[in-house]
Amino acid sequence: MASIIAVANLKGGVGKSTIAQNLGVSLRSLGHKVCLVDTDIEQKSTMEWGERREARELPTIQLALSTEERLAREINELAKSHDFVIVDGSPALSEVATKIMMVADLVVVPVMPSGNDYGALEKFLARYDDVKSMLESRGMVLDLGVVMNGYNDRIIVNRAVYEAIKKLEVRIFQTEIGHRAAYQEANLVGMGVGELGDRKAAQEIESLTKEILALVS
Ligand SMILES: Nc1ncnc2c1ncn2[C@@H]1O[C@H](COP(=O)(O)OP(=O)(O)OP(=O)(O)O)[C@@H](O)[C@H]1O
Ligand SMILES: [Mg+2]
Repeated sequence: MASIIAVANLKGGVGKSTIAQNLGVSLRSLGHKVCLVDTDIEQKSTMEWGERREARELPTIQLALSTEERLAREINELAKSHDFVIVDGSPALSEVATKIMMVADLVVVPVMPSGNDYGALEKFLARYDDVKSMLESRGMVLDLGVVMNGYNDRIIVNRAVYEAIKKLEVRIFQTEIGHRAAYQEANLVGMGVGELGDRKAAQEIESLTKEILALVS
């Protein structure tokens, strides 16, 4: 049975797809069987990233696009034949976030350190708490970690948001994902930042992957 990792946040544009894609490539490069599930039927950004990847004949990662209705069934089905199912959450459609969490083992929450994102995070964490309690009453566990994305510790606002999140008593991954052109470029060409050859970004993803593996395996 696979570990199911949901990359989710109620806010759009925080790096859900970026983190999901790079985590997928990273776990694949370690020899795991990985499937990426795109839940954003409007933008399909991870599906399109996968098509660009296929065109370049890079190591294949299975991709699936799922609608809200089929989500739980499809993820559980894919879990049977993979080591990791990574779900790229979609923005705003809050019911999708709940449904993904219901079947996940771990929720990875990318946060871009603006004041705006802090508010969305609080809302998302309240939702997580509800789902977690429901699962616990059925004897199941759900873990969560926040990952700072597009982070620059020399920017005061970034640090302030980080400090505020620390007070929420939530796990924050030690790895901070910096604001780097490599993340944008990798998405455009269907790659992971490691395949693109950006060392600093590759180290960030490698480090995040290690932290995630320590939680789910
Ligand atoms: N660490 C980063 N450094 C630089 N650019 C980034 C970083 N993370 C994400 N981006 C860019 O920010 C934009 C939004 O990222 P992404 O699409 O991953 O967010 P998302 O949460 O999936 O958005 P949506 O809610 O629309 O699905 C993209 O253009 C992406 O390339
Ligand atoms: Mg996205």
